[in-house]
Amino acid sequence: MKTPFSRMLYGGDYNPNQWPREVWEEDMRLFQKAGINSATVNVFSWAKLQPNEGTYDFSELDDVIDMLGRENYDIVLATSTGAMPAWLVKNYPEVARVDFEGRRHKFGQRHNHCPNSAVYQKFAGKLVEELARRYGKNPHIACWHINNEYNTGCYCENCEKAFRIWLQKKYGTLEAVNAAWNTEFWGHTFHEWDEIVAPSSLSDGMGFGWTRKTAFAGISIDYDRFLSDSLLENYKMERDIIRRYDPDTPITTNLMGTYKGLDYFKWAKEMDIVSWDNYPAYNTPWSETAMRHDLMRGLKGQPFMLMEQTPSQQNWQAYNSLKRPGQMRAQSWQTVAHGADTIQFFQLRRSKGACEKFHGAVISHSGSGETRVFRECAQLGAELQALGDQLLGAGNPAEVGVLFDWDNYWALEYTSGPSVDLKYCAQIHQYYRYFYEKHIPVDMIPVDADFSRYKAIVAPVLYMVKESVAEALEAFVEAGGTLITGFMSGIVDQSDNVHLGGYPGPLRKLCGVWAEEIDALAPEQSNTLRFAGGGESKCGLLCDILHLEGAQAIASYGGDFYAGTPAVTRNNCGKGVAYYVGTQPDQDGLAKILDQFAQDGGLAPLIQEETPLEVVRRVKDGTEFWFILNLTGQPQPAPENFRGETDVLTGEAVGGQLKPFDALLVKR
Ligand code: GLA
Ligand code: ZN
Repeated sequence: MKTPFSRMLYGGDYNPNQWPREVWEEDMRLFQKAGINSATVNVFSWAKLQPNEGTYDFSELDDVIDMLGRENYDIVLATSTGAMPAWLVKNYPEVARVDFEGRRHKFGQRHNHCPNSAVYQKFAGKLVEELARRYGKNPHIACWHINNEYNTGCYCENCEKAFRIWLQKKYGTLEAVNAAWNTEFWGHTFHEWDEIVAPSSLSDGMGFGWTRKTAFAGISIDYDRFLSDSLLENYKMERDIIRRYDPDTPITTNLMGTYKGLDYFKWAKEMDIVSWDNYPAYNTPWSETAMRHDLMRGLKGQPFMLMEQTPSQQNWQAYNSLKRPGQMRAQSWQTVAHGADTIQFFQLRRSKGACEKFHGAVISHSGSGETRVFRECAQLGAELQALGDQLLGAGNPAEVGVLFDWDNYWALEYTSGPSVDLKYCAQIHQYYRYFYEKHIPVDMIPVDADFSRYKAIVAPVLYMVKESVAEALEAFVEAGGTLITGFMSGIVDQSDNVHLGGYPGPLRKLCGVWAEEIDALAPEQSNTLRFAGGGESKCGLLCDILHLEGAQAIASYGGDFYAGTPAVTRNNCGKGVAYYVGTQPDQDGLAKILDQFAQDGGLAPLIQEETPLEVVRRVKDGTEFWFILNLTGQPQPAPENFRGETDVLTGEAVGGQLKPFDALLVKR
């Protein structure tokens, strides 16, 4: 495990450029009181740094960086390319993106550029070069932060042209493109490259937002891949410029967890360290947040930065509830537990105007260091400081790998049928939650991971099985691994064309089943799972009608015309076992299946006791760091396992009870 930092960065987005100088001095005083040692600056300052095409003005940023340097901050320096200045859009309207509805945007908002605009690239590159030349040798720069939350697509003519070149590289010939996209359907055969257009809603795209559909998933998935690559090229351009002036400071950009638009596994290969922004809603299950942390750790298999979280509340969700007393602290320790080596906020001082003025910050509109939120930030700051560098770079050993794949995410949610309720992340999360509740650590891994590092692989809705993935899973099971997959798996190839010969296609032999038909159940409909070993639970959403081809049924359907046929199966294959879950069980039903799976896999929970507390372990140089978190909102008994040991955060012995949002750290 690697960490590029010498201490845990504690700070966040800081915008002194929005404030008069007197406020800067007050900031320095208050931040010190809160134990803040890091500031992320220059995230959205392009318009100030470059008031027009020919002029740069770094005087204010110089002052900010000098001040932070004098106070020994670890500076996270952003490049400001996430929001274009108005003059750039006025002088070169083509730099603005064209949205899915086909509308060319005017100046406004942020994250608004066309990634394939040569004009955007030129001006962004020049700005970054100025920044890198000026600050690249500054010893207080701890990390470069490129752009901000890369997102949103573009469907302009420039992008269309770039898409055709991307396709030529990928497929070589137009015949290969036609074959991949199955263009005989609806007479889409392309005879010239320039007949291909971007699949916006003016073309093959349908619907709206992230729930949108498409007439040709092959085209739309390739376009998603292309957009992800296009933005990644923007990132790489900035990174390479910085590297010319600064050979070793880590470079990152802030990601967004399970954000759909970008293939983060591909992105992470180009990043020195992963960083991400964690904004759960008031009702997001804690297991879902944990899953996102594990995914962000899994991108590089290394500790990550928490680039943003709110100290108190957001402004952009429907209901921006306050974090309850202790909740920010507990949430921060949860983040560290899952692999974070930094805790950073958006933001340090609450803005005075514009749409984020109700977004929480370390310093509120009162300007006071005597608020509940400030005190809680200061407490956490002191705890992080006391811990020093002990945890930096610590790993999170796991025996279970849960597959996550952006191609699958796109493809599964583009499919028209069998059910609109099929949601990729929800499918993955229900499996993740089981392991979370059982205190069995999990790695979130890509489909091309080295499976041999795990005892068990969890692969729900592995709808798209790309080249060599089935073979790798087979080799894993043959060698003694335990695999679980299920409905909507093994269905299509990388272009969304069906693997012919019966579902689950290339997984059919491994799972020892053939799914002849797939029934879709509406929310008000359900079926029953009858377990061979006794017991029943409800199931729904989809029901595969299965034939055993070597597997054994561990549960069968209780109702409908397929009553008595297998629903969940287990297949011995080589030295290992493959499970196939042909329907959506309720939570208890799934737990029952996964109990057996965990037993087959020989998966050891971190602690045996049943407890609703979250228990997570990081390990460094033989020292184990155990986090015990009460995220339940209710008092809970402390696990016997830790009683009497010292909680290093408070120096007190672990007692009999944890209060709501208590967070303990025990070293062994
Ligand atoms: C994102 C952005 C920040 C800010 C926060 C508000 O994460 O990166 O600039 O807008 O959201 O939650
Ligand atoms: Zn474009």
